[in-house]
Amino acid sequence: MRRDNYIIFSEGKIGRIMLPNRLVRSATWDPSILTRRVMTDEVLNLYRGLALGGIGLIITGGFPVFSERSRNSDSGNWLSTYADLRIKGIERLVQEVQRAKPKCRIIAQLENGNLNARPSVVDSPFSRRKVRRLTMKEIGNIVDCFVEAIIDMDKAGFDGVQLHAAHGGLLSRFLSPYTNRRDDSYGGSPPNRARIIREIVSKARQTVNDFPILIKMNCTDYLVGGIDIDTFSELAQEIEQTGVDAIEVSGGMWDCLVRSEQELSFRPVPAPESHTRIRNPEKQSYFLKYVEKLDLGIPVILVGGNRNIERLEEIVSQGKVNFIALSRPLISEPDLPNRWLEGRGSRTTECISCNSCIFAMHVHPVSLNLVWSRVCIKQTSPSIV
Ligand SMILES: Cc1cc2nc3c(=O)[nH]c(=O)nc-3n(C[C@H](O)[C@H](O)[C@H](O)COP(=O)(O)O)c2cc1C
Repeated sequence: MRRDNYIIFSEGKIGRIMLPNRLVRSATWDPSILTRRVMTDEVLNLYRGLALGGIGLIITGGFPVFSERSRNSDSGNWLSTYADLRIKGIERLVQEVQRAKPKCRIIAQLENGNLNARPSVVDSPFSRRKVRRLTMKEIGNIVDCFVEAIIDMDKAGFDGVQLHAAHGGLLSRFLSPYTNRRDDSYGGSPPNRARIIREIVSKARQTVNDFPILIKMNCTDYLVGGIDIDTFSELAQEIEQTGVDAIEVSGGMWDCLVRSEQELSFRPVPAPESHTRIRNPEKQSYFLKYVEKLDLGIPVILVGGNRNIERLEEIVSQGKVNFIALSRPLISEPDLPNRWLEGRGSRTTECISCNSCIFAMHVHPVSLNLVWSRVCIKQTSPSIV
């Protein structure tokens, strides 16, 4: 049975852009272009496949907008700026998606690159490197790199950008009270922890006006003293005040992986935003309970373990969630949105959430896009049926 009358397959709006349906491809890293800094045919094919598969909005893998220069650099500047890191031919990605499916929208995710500095020096079990605390001047440089990237993505034709402020990256370390222990204007209260986001958005808006700026943030860090269900709503309201156009709700920081399965209520495998063992429907859409507490005037995108179209329709019809985002299921089935719309096959995804894609990303970072389909273990893979 076709599902044309489902809310999920109705149009939705984020800022000034109209999306043909409520299904979003959540950011999924594209290592091959990042290592070579040039757009490749493999990546163009991947995005064409997603657009043709019926997704309403594609969020690209995170593009680093700055990273620390090596100590031996003779330039004297501590940061590689966005201009140093820009991917040659990035505008081809937009053109490819527009050509394949003119109504499909594409947004660039922006994140930090390698950096030996943090808002505060907090020991992490997963980093042996000694990190230092960012100075106010350096925070200003970082804001400028994000702003430069936002302006460039607008010029390249993207429909918007998403600030990656989840999963323990630099921006999420500012937002979390666990990782941000500063006692200056960037730390402490929710408005102070959100200050860097406010500065990026307001400075960028001076040039790009209403160009959509989204954010992905944690609703829980799964850490005692971090963002959690009791504090998330207030922080999300603060983030709304920064002028972003939508919030994608995710969770987890690698730092939490030393905790037990009992404490976390999921198996602590990398990465904590991508839970495994979620075949049981009660384990799916695992950030929903955090979103149910929100009362925001901007769209909310729910990511994390969304696997069953009937359940997802129910979630969207309850009104707290406006868009549903998927990452691993679209690695497994890029045409999943069309399959669900046309009523072909199962109401659940073929993806079994085994995280073989994540392991592959860490083991073969250079050529990953060439092997996506080979690393993916599906519901229908001969080895598991
Ligand atoms: C291979 C892979 C790469 C990912 N890369 C990113 C990324 O670049 N930026 C990001 O915010 N999240 C990234 N994620 C996390 C996903 O966007 C998503 O939040 C998470 O996998 C949970 O959603 P899912 O259950 O639909 O996979 C990645 C996930 C996978 C599986």
